[in-house]
Amino acid sequence: MISLRRSGLLAVTLPGLLLLAACGSNNSAEHTTTAASAPADSAQTKTTAMPTSASFGKTTDGTEVQLFTLANASGVKATITNYGGILTSLLVPDKDGKLGDVILGFDNVSGYQSPEYQKAGPYFGALIGRYGNRIKGGKFTLDGKEYTLAKNNGPNSLHGGLKGFDKVIWQAEPASSADGQSLKLSYVSKDGEEGYPGNLNVTVVYTLTNDNALRIDYTATTDKATPINLTNHAYFNLNHGAGKDILGHEVTLPADRYTVVDATLIPTGELRPVKGTPFDFTTPHAIGERIAQVPGGYDHNWVLNTATGSHAAATVYEPTTGRTLEVTTDEPGIQFYTGNFLDGTLKGKGGTVYGKHAGFCLETQHFPDSPNQPKFPNTILKPGETYHTVSTYKFGVRK
Ligand code: GLA
Repeated sequence: MISLRRSGLLAVTLPGLLLLAACGSNNSAEHTTTAASAPADSAQTKTTAMPTSASFGKTTDGTEVQLFTLANASGVKATITNYGGILTSLLVPDKDGKLGDVILGFDNVSGYQSPEYQKAGPYFGALIGRYGNRIKGGKFTLDGKEYTLAKNNGPNSLHGGLKGFDKVIWQAEPASSADGQSLKLSYVSKDGEEGYPGNLNVTVVYTLTNDNALRIDYTATTDKATPINLTNHAYFNLNHGAGKDILGHEVTLPADRYTVVDATLIPTGELRPVKGTPFDFTTPHAIGERIAQVPGGYDHNWVLNTATGSHAAATVYEPTTGRTLEVTTDEPGIQFYTGNFLDGTLKGKGGTVYGKHAGFCLETQHFPDSPNQPKFPNTILKPGETYHTVSTYKFGVRK
């Protein structure tokens, strides 16, 4: 099914007044802006605090970028930078109520631009586009015209090319509504950028809700037909700080099939049943239980049993901390990647060394290489249509 909707409305409404207040005060100094008034329809009149912002340092070309902190009443905090729209940290409680950071990343923008990081290319926490995952041979044909993309992953194009949405600077507007604090990120990807057709207007809204969920709303419009497959590349480790690997996390994926891939991780077109294989996560399994049977580790796209409407995409439970993560989406697939390429060369927040399997990703998405696979759900956005997809990462505990 096509996850394109014709309505351009986002699920979050951003009060214009609050928005203006936020933009005007969005400078490098740490500050907190308090809204002048609460939403009129709110039963209890309470003051809605705005996200705060601080400098996240300067990019290699000298541009100062910001780090925004979204917080909710339970003390949960998410930090997001307008460089690459990267989610850099997420503090959530464990079963004893202790907050811990469950996201891999760096303390400042230079961590995301270091030569070692660029070489490794792990896309920590970033917004991915125009096309999340791989396009075979960096080529596709649309309306009879062949387009050529940069091959940045062996023979293929991965995650938008050499300078994907993970490496661009987004325009940021913090806001606050009854749903929670949010950050609206906007970017215009020019016709021909990274080889893709059409001027693409993209908006991504991160909202931290009061029930400890981080919701990500992706919206886009174009003036020429283009492939699009937006996602977020957060690496999670529910065992705070990634000091340990993620092999003990128990994962459930409501998916009876996965897309079989060739040696370069391009789907062959076959949707193979998971039953009786190490890919069967229809009931909970520790990540490490069968990973040795999967050469290289998990880095595959699961075909979710439900493809439309908001549906469960993954559940994760970490037994030592009791933390849980529930992912819901309206996308038909999810790339479950177990940090197989991390090798200890990257040192993140607080000096944590990110070794193999230090984190896992749950990238909600359309299937890899869909522009070249006519039988896969459509990923072509046309002029006049609005792309809109929502994924939610909800945190909890099991005692
Ligand atoms: C995706 C890919 C992986 C890898 C990571 C980034 O998850 O499927 O193969 O490229 O991104 O390292």
